[in-house]
Amino acid sequence: MLRRVQLQIRRGFGLCFLALALAAGCGSKADEKLEFGAVSNERDLVEIGEKIFFGKGQCALCHTLGGEGRGKCPDLEGAGERLTREFIYETLTEPDKYIRLDFDPAEPKKYPARMPAVDQPPIGLTEPELLTVIAFVQSRGGKITVSPVELKR
Ligand code: HEC
Repeated sequence: MLRRVQLQIRRGFGLCFLALALAAGCGSKADEKLEFGAVSNERDLVEIGEKIFFGKGQCALCHTLGGEGRGKCPDLEGAGERLTREFIYETLTEPDKYIRLDFDPAEPKKYPARMPAVDQPPIGLTEPELLTVIAFVQSRGGKITVSPVELKR
């Protein structure tokens, strides 16, 4: 039983990796240069974060924001209200730290994919990009605590 679960997880991960690699390859040409120096307010911050969510960050491959296609990976509508900034940051950069579902054989495997560390290849978001995507997640139902000056550090 345990072996079967491990095999399934490995297979799922491989497929997912392939999908990510393909998406990264196709997406790179369309990447526009993001001008963080010009961001002076919350609206710009969230707008860039949204672009990254649906583009370079590939978040929308796995996550929904309410509406259609829910239930694959956690739906992030209202995530800004439920999750702290620290938790979101850790989820993005060190997902293994908190994710138990994929590692604990006693728990049924619930998701078809794994949350990747999005600051590592193949996604490889930079620190300012991470901050804008966090602001976007926070904007779904929560208070934005990222401020534009942080992008310039
Ligand atoms: C390959 C699929 C995949 C991609 C790409 C992905 N995620 Fe995830 N994400 C997951 C899965 C699966 C979980 C749930 C992990 C668990 O709890 O076991 C998760 C969890 C999360 C959580 C915590 C949700 C909660 O309710 O606890 C947040 C926030 C999140 N992801 C944001 C992002 C953002 C932002 C991006 C893009 C930069 C992203 N994810 C890219 C699959 C993905």
